[in-house]
Amino acid sequence: MAAPMIAPSILSADFARLGEEADAVTGSDWLHVDVMDAHFVPNLTLGLPVVKSLLKATDIPLDCHLMIDDPGRWAPSYAEAGAYNVTFHAEATDDPIAVAKDIRAAGGKAGLSVKPNTPIEPYLEILKEFDTLLVMSVEPGFGGQSFIPDVLGKARTVRKLVDSGELTLVVEIDGGINVDTVEQAAEAGVDCFVAGSAVYGAADPAAAVRGLREQAGRASAHLSL
Ligand code: DX5
Ligand code: ZN
Repeated sequence: MAAPMIAPSILSADFARLGEEADAVTGSDWLHVDVMDAHFVPNLTLGLPVVKSLLKATDIPLDCHLMIDDPGRWAPSYAEAGAYNVTFHAEATDDPIAVAKDIRAAGGKAGLSVKPNTPIEPYLEILKEFDTLLVMSVEPGFGGQSFIPDVLGKARTVRKLVDSGELTLVVEIDGGINVDTVEQAAEAGVDCFVAGSAVYGAADPAAAVRGLREQAGRASAHLSL
């Protein structure tokens, strides 16, 4: 496996100073941007205008996590604007393949996300249309929640398919990742770790990113042997 990727979530950052908050995590692999519409999840955050401003303010590739209804209508615009990875929820659409194709046609990487109680089996066949699988390890909507270890079975299932060459996909996890939980996720074969409160709640966010990456790297070292 390649070196673990860390994606700080700006949900835990100061929204009035997003450019500086992006600078505070220089060296991160992706910057995770949680888009919530107060319909798919019971919370409201930000949308395309803020993402466009962030794209001008940072060189870190943006990982947009759309927790919204009707992703087919909105997701391609994020890719068109220049977001590196655009992830939407399997539960939010009847036609995930069409949405993935539109994201890719707009120049983005396409990600599929599943909530903690959504099984992965029904989606295994279509994962070849995606670049990223985002396994939610909390109920989407809020930062600072506790990690749900039961979801790691989904990461293990998809890791096996990646390792056997059946899929080419980044396995990403989101929710409750911190110094106490990152190792078990790494051992399950996760490639990319989203961390909000563990990074932006730290005195030195860039050091927190480096620490999580090292911890994940040590925990997953045996996986590549
Ligand atoms: C939750 C969001 C997460 C959130 C994670 O719906 O998708 O990205 O920011 O925050 P922590 O790391 O604090 O659980
Ligand atoms: Zn997220």
